[in-house]
Amino acid sequence: MIRAKITGTGMYVPDRVVTNKDLEQLMDTSDEWIRQRSGIEQRHYVEPGQLPSDLAEAAARQAIEDAGLEPDQIDCIVLATLSPEAEFPGTSFFLQERLGGHVPCFDLKAQCSGFLYSLGVARSFVKSGQYKRVLVVGCEVHSTGIDLTTEGRDVAVLFGDGAGAIVVEADDDPDGRSDILSVVLHAEGKYAKKLWIEAPGSGFQPTRITQELIEEKRHFPRMQGKFVFKHAVTRMPEALREALDEAGIKQPDVDLFLFHQANLRINEFVANAMEIPPEKTRNNMQRYGNCSAASIPMLIAEARREGSIEPGSIVSMTGFGSGFSWASAVVRW
Ligand code: UT7
Repeated sequence: MIRAKITGTGMYVPDRVVTNKDLEQLMDTSDEWIRQRSGIEQRHYVEPGQLPSDLAEAAARQAIEDAGLEPDQIDCIVLATLSPEAEFPGTSFFLQERLGGHVPCFDLKAQCSGFLYSLGVARSFVKSGQYKRVLVVGCEVHSTGIDLTTEGRDVAVLFGDGAGAIVVEADDDPDGRSDILSVVLHAEGKYAKKLWIEAPGSGFQPTRITQELIEEKRHFPRMQGKFVFKHAVTRMPEALREALDEAGIKQPDVDLFLFHQANLRINEFVANAMEIPPEKTRNNMQRYGNCSAASIPMLIAEARREGSIEPGSIVSMTGFGSGFSWASAVVRW
């Protein structure tokens, strides 16, 4: 049986740090409010001219090097994003150009669950024998698409820019045990409008974007925060348990639980509800904010770098986001 092994990880955030105090200059908010409600202390924003594919490339090159590979050894690129570089083609194509070659690439849009959805796709590609080495990237540039005024403050203060990447490789060594053991994916489209950006979109006629839509700020994200919060804390434990069951892993045997980085209160709530000890979790939204599809691979790269994931570690990952979409995976490193 072919196993799907994560062999390399990488992450990148732009240099520009934007603190909660910096946001106080732009809108009616406070460092205290942001920390209390979300746990976030700062986030990184791109510099003028810095592109999503700049972030994706830096994270991808790190992951490829960490796997001991050259870019031309990658067979396929899956890039999860909700903030693409252009309307089309996807950011993955701009990344592919930089890495060289003609390998297939595509963007996957499942918002904050996008990385775990992409992990599921990469796992299937590898286990089916279609590709041997798949690069999975989560990449977001949110700072250019949020309403940085008091009107947009409920969403704007939460998000940051960043990219994370992993390499998933086929492994058929009979003595090997590393594997992506399970990936469970869920969605509930009836709540699509509880957290969304509606414009530009081909649902608008005769044109996708108008001055009026911009004046009404319909090109900025809108969220019913409390509603999203309640669903996140319900769905995340459900999916986490389901992924553990499918993997045949008992909860106490998990070494590290990684959650999407939307809100520290959500993650603490989920950890408490599931009686997960705090030392088995880690969060980085304090430093990076919510980087949607990039959040989990950024966490993975940091955990690897700092030695909290080692060969043999059992890692559980769970996310929830717009769509609604939610997902969970269990990996034996
Ligand atoms: O990544 C995708 C998934 N996303 C999530 O999981 C996000 C889930 N939701 C949340 O994390 C939380 O709902 C938020 C952090 C977004 C908001 O926290 P909350 O405790 O639900 O606050 P709220 O939206 O109910 O707002 C409370 C008050 C309101 O004022 P009034 O009506 O009580 O006077 C807001 O207007 O806080 C006000 N407010 C702010 N005040 C200062 C909203 N945003 C801000 C702000 N600064 N940035």
